[in-house]
Amino acid sequence: MPAEFISVTFPNESNDLHPQPQAPIDPAYLQRYARTLDDYGFNYTLIPYASSSFDPFTIGATILAHTKNINIIVALRPNTVYPTVAAKALATLDQLSGGRVVVHFIAGGSDDEQAREGDFLNKEERYERQEEYIRILRLVWSATEPFDFDGKYYQFKQFISNVRPTKGHIPISLGGSSDAAYRIGGALCDIFGLWGEPLAETKQQIDRVYEEAAKAGRTDRPRIWVTFRPIIAETDELAWVKAHKVLDQLNANREKGLSRKPVSSAPPANVGSQRLLDIAARGHVHDRALWYPTVTATNASGATTALVGSPQTIADSILDYIDLGADLISIRGYDNYNDAVDYGRYVLPLVREGIRAREEASEQAGKDGGKKAAA
Ligand SMILES: Cc1cc2nc3c(=O)[nH]c(=O)nc-3n(C[C@H](O)[C@H](O)[C@H](O)COP(=O)(O)O)c2cc1C
Repeated sequence: MPAEFISVTFPNESNDLHPQPQAPIDPAYLQRYARTLDDYGFNYTLIPYASSSFDPFTIGATILAHTKNINIIVALRPNTVYPTVAAKALATLDQLSGGRVVVHFIAGGSDDEQAREGDFLNKEERYERQEEYIRILRLVWSATEPFDFDGKYYQFKQFISNVRPTKGHIPISLGGSSDAAYRIGGALCDIFGLWGEPLAETKQQIDRVYEEAAKAGRTDRPRIWVTFRPIIAETDELAWVKAHKVLDQLNANREKGLSRKPVSSAPPANVGSQRLLDIAARGHVHDRALWYPTVTATNASGATTALVGSPQTIADSILDYIDLGADLISIRGYDNYNDAVDYGRYVLPLVREGIRAREEASEQAGKDGGKKAAA
């Protein structure tokens, strides 16, 4: 499977640098953003979920209606939709778009955030429920006869769906860094999502997911998705100047109460964010260009690690992760639309060129090996 690129969709111009709290949907912006991603060869766009945010299914339908190739990744918290309903909603979108739908599971990292929509399970239970939910989706998409389900969290009788995914299956992704995330993602999912950590820590997480896949008796492995927020400029020096401006702006927004996490907020409860903060405490720059002050400035609220540099530096850094086995690369910036254009123009072609060069080198090595064996 060749490496593919993921972006993130936002429904209006609000972004982490210039937040516009409670801005309504801007349909023209959404269409332009989605078409730009499509035109520049992004393969997927994530539609994230938060208790206060827009409905990801209708945002997804709009993106699909205005694009030709890009796949949507619908972020889904099991507490928000009954699984048979979600299975049909996803399959409906999939049929409407000729098979351009992926679902990304979020067990929920914060008890307080989950409680906002009536979910009072603890995290362990949320992961347990998520496992049942994923099993139900698979059954709904494949069953040819009415079936019963008798789980701990869901029970129903004689359900059958007439809405099937276009290719028989919709890829299932999961994001998280706790043991339960590795176990369920490794055992059941097609894709496993990570936030940007240094190469050594990323390798450690990939190995954990693969271990769980093997333990579950799988002969295949989930694809690995890794997420960065690149800060790009013509040269490395200019990119570092820009990075410090981004950081100043994030800190100023937080001071003014404009960021997603107020200055007084408690340490995050999800393991993924805790890991990011631990790594941030060990140093600002890791590997070639992975930058952590943006993590600290936002209390690690979601994907917050930057890659800083010229297009070549960013591309080389991404290729390091592709070499490690992460073949789904999520890049979104701090200035969403303009960064997507820059990545599409300058980064995607360089990474794809790097992949081609690696393929040619390995083909050549294969030919040379064959010649030696024949001699
Ligand atoms: C790639 C990726 C995307 C994510 N997208 C979302 C999202 O849209 N909304 C959300 O609440 N959490 C999102 N998360 C966060 C986790 O799914 C969440 O914190 C998890 O349920 C618990 O994390 P833990 O297992 O690391 O403790 C995402 C995580 C990853 C890795």
